[in-house]
Amino acid sequence: MTKSFEAISVSDLSEQQAAQELERLATLIAEHDRLYHQLDAPTVSDEQYDTLRARNTRIEEKFSHLRRSDSPNKKVGAAPLDTFSKVKHKVAMLSLSNAFNEDDVFDFTQRIRRFLGLDEHETIELVAEPKIDGLSLTLRYENAQLVLAATRGDGRTGENVTKNVLTISDIPHTLSGSDIPDVFEIRGEIYMRHDDFAALNTAQQNINGKVFANPRNAAAGSLRQLDASITAKRPLKFFAYSWGDASSMPSSTQWGMSQALKDFGLPINPFTKCCTNVKDVLEVYRAIELQRASLDYDIDGIVYKVNRLDWQNRLGFVSRSPRWAIAHKFPAEKAITLIKDIEIQVGRTGALTPVAKLVPITVGGVVVQNATLHNADEIARKDIRIGDTVRIQRAGDVIPQVIEVLKDERPQSSLPFQFPNICPVCGSRAAREVNVKTGKSDAVTRCTGGLTCPAQAKERLKHFVSRNAFDIEGLGAKQIETFYTQGCVVAPSDIFTLKQRNDHATDKLQNKEGWGDLSVKNLFSAIEKRRKISFDRFIYALGIRYIGETTSRLLAKNYSSIESFIAAMNAAQDETDDAYNELVSIDGIGDSAAQALIEFFREDHNVKVLNDLLQYVTPDPFETSDISSPLQGKTVVFTGSLEQMSRSEAKAIAERYGAKVAGSVSQKTDYVVAGPGAGSKLKKAQDLGLNILTEQEWILFIGAEPKL
Ligand code: IVH
Repeated sequence: MTKSFEAISVSDLSEQQAAQELERLATLIAEHDRLYHQLDAPTVSDEQYDTLRARNTRIEEKFSHLRRSDSPNKKVGAAPLDTFSKVKHKVAMLSLSNAFNEDDVFDFTQRIRRFLGLDEHETIELVAEPKIDGLSLTLRYENAQLVLAATRGDGRTGENVTKNVLTISDIPHTLSGSDIPDVFEIRGEIYMRHDDFAALNTAQQNINGKVFANPRNAAAGSLRQLDASITAKRPLKFFAYSWGDASSMPSSTQWGMSQALKDFGLPINPFTKCCTNVKDVLEVYRAIELQRASLDYDIDGIVYKVNRLDWQNRLGFVSRSPRWAIAHKFPAEKAITLIKDIEIQVGRTGALTPVAKLVPITVGGVVVQNATLHNADEIARKDIRIGDTVRIQRAGDVIPQVIEVLKDERPQSSLPFQFPNICPVCGSRAAREVNVKTGKSDAVTRCTGGLTCPAQAKERLKHFVSRNAFDIEGLGAKQIETFYTQGCVVAPSDIFTLKQRNDHATDKLQNKEGWGDLSVKNLFSAIEKRRKISFDRFIYALGIRYIGETTSRLLAKNYSSIESFIAAMNAAQDETDDAYNELVSIDGIGDSAAQALIEFFREDHNVKVLNDLLQYVTPDPFETSDISSPLQGKTVVFTGSLEQMSRSEAKAIAERYGAKVAGSVSQKTDYVVAGPGAGSKLKKAQDLGLNILTEQEWILFIGAEPKL
């Protein structure tokens, strides 16, 4: 029997065996390249492929005279790119807040009226257009030429997919028409039509390739191909609906901008309508909802946008969504299935979340197997039991929920669900906290094990590497799970010593299942890139309870550097210290968040985690607004009523100019803007000898135009 050379290590190969091995590898690698690049249907994992190439290289190194003319190492461009390059968006790509019913839509317009100080009779024109269920894309045109296309990413940084986008026929390489701005960034949605999606899945099935769960996944998977020739074969479509960086504006209204996009040669959605009141937009909503099932692409709601762009600019953004737009979602899709089991998951903050394990069912094109049951109260209120037949619903990306139990279907033997009072992962006591203010017990049952609970420790690490935190490519939840279990990453700082430890290890990562030379190299370079990180991401990554992205940004802005933040949090342990007052007077930091910060810094093990991490990571000082202004970094307090603009607008403007807006006056306040009716805050400001401005002085100071 011929011995398989494959099993012989490179150092033991004879010259003849090496020659045959090089021949076998050249053929095999070429075949895998073809399957991967041309058919998008690889039959081996990246790691197996890496292993083949590595073996080929090692043999070539040892027997250089045997190197073949068709050596895989000679082929230029054969190896795929390993990642897309990153693009920092000049203007952030944001999301939309949602309206789930007509009242929410009325509230949306009322908020706009209040913010802009409009009375009930003033018309607010709204543009209504379908919310396309795809993925957003930004296209940068310079002198009418497409020069860059990028995905949304986390909203601030996306991926450069220019090569792929150049293959999409809906997207012009050159803009047509007249008066095109020199620089114009067009934004819109990439999507796939239902018929194209079905045909693609059939073709994929025939070649044993990846079958996509829904058109959106298919669109995303097709766009994000490292080999653009695959994207070229995928039927991707595009609708333009917005813009980013622009050297000039073709119109002063949303409607005019849509028409300009159309004139420049981009597809805009044919259902786009301009309405003069809420009643009319709701009619558009109902009309499109009726046609939804017969449309040949997925939409998940209708977006309403304030038509006047000067109003859009004044309204600005709150957190990650514009105040001038809202997505009115279509009702969730429902289905009936059976609960096989109820599992308890333990989250980053120790919260025990019950999850219903369902008999798999397709809801709106997606297979659902889990539904959240929220907490013990929710299970008791709906009396949800294992074995129950339930109606579930799924809306967009939200985790499916159980809406009701079909009690008639309940088996006689069923028993009420007993919520555990010990943590299923670490066995520590699990309890509901009592709110000191209300005396009521919290809805959430929490494991008291802290970081000694493996579930909490692991979830914190997963949060640490997640997309809006450290976002380390190649290090996601799955890898954290394995690294934690193997004991090589148990605290965040371990991530940054991984390479050094691996270099000296005998059982190297690249030899472990699921890894190869290339993926390990990429992982270490992704980690290396994160040794510098923005200050707000750094705070968010710590995973402190109640400290989400928005609060992290507020903290980063307020404390500017990690050193002053840590010093302030330590000083704030003493409630009589100024640092405590400063913390609680940051507008947007509530009691719970302040308390959680203080508690976090009180625990030695948290301080250790933080200090260890700071040995390897440098948070960049917070970047505030680009506008150079005398308000940069200053603290402003508004008191009394304002006459020329609403309090919210004044606050938003101050923040846009780089100021911090505080709720109470202290020695640290730089300016107090006092309107009629100002009381104790004004008195305190006078006593402290602070700078006090009238509203008019304030408007002159910031150089903003008062409302005429
Ligand atoms: S406007 C500043 N219009 O929905 C906000 N977005 O949930 C600009 N989307 O990220 C977005 N159809 O990917 C807008 N007609 C439409 C849309 C739309 C789909 C997506 C977009 C956005 C997400 C927000």
